[in-house]
Amino acid sequence: MREAQVVSEQELSLLAGLASTRSIRRYTEDPIPDDDLNTILFSATRAPTGSNRQDFRFLVLRDGAVAAEAKALLGKAFREGWGQKRAGDGYDKGTGAADDSPKARTARAMQQFVDNFELTPVVVLPCVQVRHGGIQDGASIYPAVQNMLLAARALGYGGVLTGWHRLVEDELRQLTGIPEEFAIAGVVPLGRPQGNHGPVRRRPMAELVFDDTWEGQAPWANDPPGTRFAGRAPNKIN
Ligand SMILES: Cc1cc2nc3c(=O)[nH]c(=O)nc-3n(C[C@H](O)[C@H](O)[C@H](O)COP(=O)(O)O)c2cc1C
Repeated sequence: MREAQVVSEQELSLLAGLASTRSIRRYTEDPIPDDDLNTILFSATRAPTGSNRQDFRFLVLRDGAVAAEAKALLGKAFREGWGQKRAGDGYDKGTGAADDSPKARTARAMQQFVDNFELTPVVVLPCVQVRHGGIQDGASIYPAVQNMLLAARALGYGGVLTGWHRLVEDELRQLTGIPEEFAIAGVVPLGRPQGNHGPVRRRPMAELVFDDTWEGQAPWANDPPGTRFAGRAPNKIN
């Protein structure tokens, strides 16, 4: 495994990495070698939790018999989840009817993602012990999820946090043995990107960062030159 403290100059700087860690939904079939997977999960387990309780757990699905069954179950759920979203959010209506529109391109990429879900090299189920329920529990697992995505990015992999396991949660628990006292915080597929990472797009900082009062202008908050922006939400899949 790579040394925890020493990062070679070739590796991405922390700031460059976090500004370019996009959601990656299409993967090559290359496996993730143990060494790299170790570094990715090590990084996840370095995340903060309330009072350093470390009440997070990471169930990693690779190539075993249970993993194959769980990926198949999740694949079914993802296709259903995306199908509902595609219809509900009108992905095929309006500009989506034109093949080359951003909406249609997003829909194609999402369809490919869910159709090939079973081929995803590694699928991680981040879990957290239920204490308060809701946002407070989430605060002890989502930093770890982001650490995992950032570490994956640093090593040339990519992934995305998704929530479509809810459609098959009971079966998934039965199959993998995740106990009721742990919430399944999401599903994180990981693999080598078919496409590229690149700058993430968000709204300009002036819309997102306030000074002193709600909506108070923050003159010091300026997007660096060359920043690329997202359209107004909801502009794509959630
Ligand atoms: C709480 C949360 C839930 C998400 N759920 C899904 C999901 O169910 N399916 C999916 O494909 N992406 C999901 N995403 C990924 C977001 O769509 C993505 O991060 C967002 O559109 C920004 O795109 P980017 O990550 O490429 O910059 C989720 C992200 C977050 C933070």
